[in-house]
Amino acid sequence: MRKIVVAVDGYSSCGKSTMAKALAKYAGYAYIDTGAMYRAIGLYATRKGFIKDGELDNAAIIGALDEIDIFFKPNAEGKNETYLNGENVEGEIRTLDAAIAASKVSEIKEVRAALVRQQQKMGEGKCVVMDGRDIGTVVFPNAELKIFVTASSDVRAKRRYDELVAKGDAPESLEKVKKDIEERDLRDTTRKESPLVQAADAVVLDNSDMTLEEQFEWLKRKFDETVGK
Ligand code: DC
Repeated sequence: MRKIVVAVDGYSSCGKSTMAKALAKYAGYAYIDTGAMYRAIGLYATRKGFIKDGELDNAAIIGALDEIDIFFKPNAEGKNETYLNGENVEGEIRTLDAAIAASKVSEIKEVRAALVRQQQKMGEGKCVVMDGRDIGTVVFPNAELKIFVTASSDVRAKRRYDELVAKGDAPESLEKVKKDIEERDLRDTTRKESPLVQAADAVVLDNSDMTLEEQFEWLKRKFDETVGK
C-alpha cells in the first residue's frame, strides 16, 4: 500500500475536521488541523492588542512572527491539542472571536508563508491527513488525494450553532452565526493571498444532505482506491 498525503480543503463549518480526523484514524495517519495554527496566531494578535476596532495591525503581527511558536501535542486520550508558546490554547482558539481573528491573520502573506513552511515539514514523510483551505493548492499541490468539502450556508450555520450551544457558548442567534459564516466565506474566497479555491484535481464532497456515516463510507472508498487497498 502506498503512503500518501490527503488534503482536505473547503468552507468553514462544513464538517471538514470531523471527517479528516475519522479518516486519519482509519488510515493510521496523523491528523493536522491547519486552521488551529491560524487561530493560534489570531489569538496571539488579540492578546497583544494588535486588533483594534476590528482592524489588524499587519506590521505588528509580521514583526512578531519570530516570537510565535505553535505546535501540537496529544492529550491523555491521544487527541492533538494546540500550543502557543508552550501554553495549551486548545479551548481558547475555538471561540467565534478567535475564528474571526484567524480569518484576519490568514490574509497576510508573511503569516501564510511561515505556516505553510511548517505544514510542509509536518507532511514530509507522507501519512498525514491535513485539513485547511489551501492544502491541495499551495501546501501540497502534489497530494495524492484531494478532497474539497462543501455544504450550504444554512446547513453549516445550523451545525455551528448547535456545536456552540453544546459547548455552553450560546451565540446571539442562528441568523448571526449564518452572517458570520457568510462573511468568513467571502473573506476566505476573495482574499489576495491563497484564497480558498478548489484544486482542479480535487474530488468534491457536498455533505449538505449526507449523514456522518455516509460521508465516512465515501471517504474510506476514496482513500482505499488511492492507496490501492
Ligand atoms: O478551519 P478553521 O475554521 O479553524 O480556520 C480558521 C481560519 O483560518 C479561517 O478563516 C480560514 C483560515 N485558514 C486558512 O486561511 N488556511 C488554512 N489552511 C486553514 C485555515
